[in-house]
Amino acid sequence: MKSMTTIVRVILVLAFAFAAVSCTPTAPAEPTQPPAPAATATTAPKVYTYKDMVVGFIQTGSEGGWRAANTASFKETADQLGITLKFYDAQNKLENQISAFRNFIADKDVNVIILAALETTGWDEVLKEAQAAGKIVVLEDRRIDASEDLYATYIGSDFVEEGRKAAVEMCKLLEGSEKKNVVELVGNVGSSAAKDRGQGFREKMGECGITITQSQTGNWNSTEGKAVMEAWLKQSTDIQGVFAQNDEMGLGAAEAIKEAGLKPGTDIKILTVDATAGAFKAMIAGDINTVVECNPLLAPQVYEAALKALNNESLPKWVPSQEGVFYAADAATILPTRKY
Ligand code: AHR
Repeated sequence: MKSMTTIVRVILVLAFAFAAVSCTPTAPAEPTQPPAPAATATTAPKVYTYKDMVVGFIQTGSEGGWRAANTASFKETADQLGITLKFYDAQNKLENQISAFRNFIADKDVNVIILAALETTGWDEVLKEAQAAGKIVVLEDRRIDASEDLYATYIGSDFVEEGRKAAVEMCKLLEGSEKKNVVELVGNVGSSAAKDRGQGFREKMGECGITITQSQTGNWNSTEGKAVMEAWLKQSTDIQGVFAQNDEMGLGAAEAIKEAGLKPGTDIKILTVDATAGAFKAMIAGDINTVVECNPLLAPQVYEAALKALNNESLPKWVPSQEGVFYAADAATILPTRKY
């Protein structure tokens, strides 16, 4: 009986204790803090390196030694810098260049398009398309007639100045000659190189009384240069000088002169533009008299400019190359130092 009472007491004590616990008022909740404002996303602009560059390169073609050196410069430098290069040879056809341009615009991996334009005109539409697609466009070697806002920069020679130098040098070659009849072998006629060299030559040739008696395209290659020169020599041998707008055409002209029984470099003076190894060898042989340099090794400058453009750095609209003039008398000494 006594133990029964004890059990009842224990139950009662536990019941009170439970009630006390469950009735204890809960502490008022801390006032809810408004959520901290989300940190504003300030993502730093991406800094591009050469490894991020995917270049679509549109080459004119492979018309001679100068072009081969230009192409090699872009391929070798891309390898050295870790740039991904998608190279396209347009085989000297403008329509190929335009469709390659559009393919590179559509290629989502390509962020830079480099163009060596065959012609100065016809680029506005694709340039606008490239701009809309956010592609960087850099012109190499050849300038074009388009708004400067549509491309990042142009890196290449001052072709007008090359033409002026050519005329000044031709004047020296023909000094003392009674007649100064010069024939001009022109590159592909719509190109900036051909137009501007022709313009520069004409600006200066009057200073010593040069007359251009014939002017025709040899399309930058020796076969056509030779054929044109052959045709001219059949019409008249009253020619004192050849202004070949590149080495290849000058080499072709020298062959035609030899086949006509004359001595190139002596009976008819020859001046060319480019300064390839082939022209140096012809100077050593006495076939070519003087060469005006045109530098094809443009890739390091072009890639550097493209990288700056990707990183939104400002660029001049034209970076002209530094170029010289070479004479037959120095050719043997200089040839071993030449890179192309
Ligand atoms: O634009 C440069 C010219 O193009 C070179 O003088 C010629 O050889 C090349 O094809």
